[in-house]
Amino acid sequence: MLVRLLSSSHALRTSARLAQGSLQLVTSSALRRGLATSLLGKDYPRDDWTNVTPAITSKLPLRLHTLPDHPLSTLRSLIEQHFADFSHLSSVSPLVTPATNFDELGFAPDHPGRAPTDSYYVNRGLMLRTHTSAHEVEVFRAGHDRWLLTADVYRRDEIDGSHYPVFHQVEGARVWDAGLNGMREVAEDNEARRAALAAENIIIEDVPHVAPTNPAQSTHDPAHAALVAENLKLSLNGMILKLFGHAAGATKAEPLRVRWIEAYFPFTSPSFEVEVFFRGKWLEILGSGVVQQLTLDNAGVPHKIGWAFGLGLERIAMILFSIPDIRLFWSQDPRFLRQFAQGQLTSFQPYSRYPACTKDVSFWVPQGASLHDNDFCDVVRDVAGDMVEDVKKTGRTSLCFRVNYRSMDRCIIVKRGGLVLHSQVVSRLKEQFAVEIR
Ligand code: DAH
Repeated sequence: MLVRLLSSSHALRTSARLAQGSLQLVTSSALRRGLATSLLGKDYPRDDWTNVTPAITSKLPLRLHTLPDHPLSTLRSLIEQHFADFSHLSSVSPLVTPATNFDELGFAPDHPGRAPTDSYYVNRGLMLRTHTSAHEVEVFRAGHDRWLLTADVYRRDEIDGSHYPVFHQVEGARVWDAGLNGMREVAEDNEARRAALAAENIIIEDVPHVAPTNPAQSTHDPAHAALVAENLKLSLNGMILKLFGHAAGATKAEPLRVRWIEAYFPFTSPSFEVEVFFRGKWLEILGSGVVQQLTLDNAGVPHKIGWAFGLGLERIAMILFSIPDIRLFWSQDPRFLRQFAQGQLTSFQPYSRYPACTKDVSFWVPQGASLHDNDFCDVVRDVAGDMVEDVKKTGRTSLCFRVNYRSMDRCIIVKRGGLVLHSQVVSRLKEQFAVEIR
């Protein structure tokens, strides 16, 4: 019966509901076969961890960072031009195991990023990468010493103008032989980069080097780790200057300001974040650090030492192209796409402004169940896609009282379908406390 009722659109909705993980249907084996998730031309079994929705899986083939003329593609090429002698990779599948995404990089077993409320799982053993760092081990293992990898990454998140469950990152890394020759090479490279930057109009604020909470690794000579960290900073300062220096209109009077901040990532030590001062605000643009030896050991290159960084493309592209809403990157509208040409930093000209339509929804969650904010947002995305600008908790207090009207000696009067007494209570509440009835 259940099987016969499932028209194809109904089947889609059913699988989307199953994807939330909290609803389980007892199904015939025929139906279960139909519940495999099809991704990039292959079917994957679903299980109790599956939480990918059709709205998400439909994004996998799009690969915006490779579309000619697209702002994300222009930004990728600008970064690739800065690292011209690096290998440039941009077509690695987003399907990875949790071991690749987390374990190999030293994430703790209870790291919150692993939770199905935060990440998208195809099933228990397969997920959508949450960051491009997931590929560090395989790229080092393939023998690349200096490389960039650009890709789509997936995270369950809120809905607003700067968050989207799919975004793009560039991972970059450079490693040397950990012996004296390698370190001499780093020192020479630092010298050249320092001289080139000295001529530029850029102010770099640096944290005091290698704080006790952000140490060099025990297997590293601290002097070598310092050389590598310096190379990281010099290389990235040059890239930041290339990206922002011109687009931000940095002038002699107002030079570009960049600051390096101590950070923590499981797969680097010491670790740093970079912020750029742009239009009155400090904006975090990347994470980076000296690669954990565990990563290089896992990759079969234990004799190397080096740095890595990971940077989000949308954030930077929104600034460089004046794109006000992250949904626009996914637009197929020629009025958006026609505004950009490969390699050019042009300012987006808004072409429409339609009226907003806001709706509140409130509900009881079944006893014993829970509903994460991201579960709600994924339902909204799956139904309404990019038609939704943001979802916010109203931040207001809502109370709900259930009044049980029953007299000991007479019938309660109901008029025109309404309970008179209750209408009077509601009116009084409005009058006396100015409450708004939902
Ligand atoms: N993967 C990190 C993220 O998505 C960013 C990052 C931090 C990448 C440090 C790195 C790194 O390569 O060394 O937040």
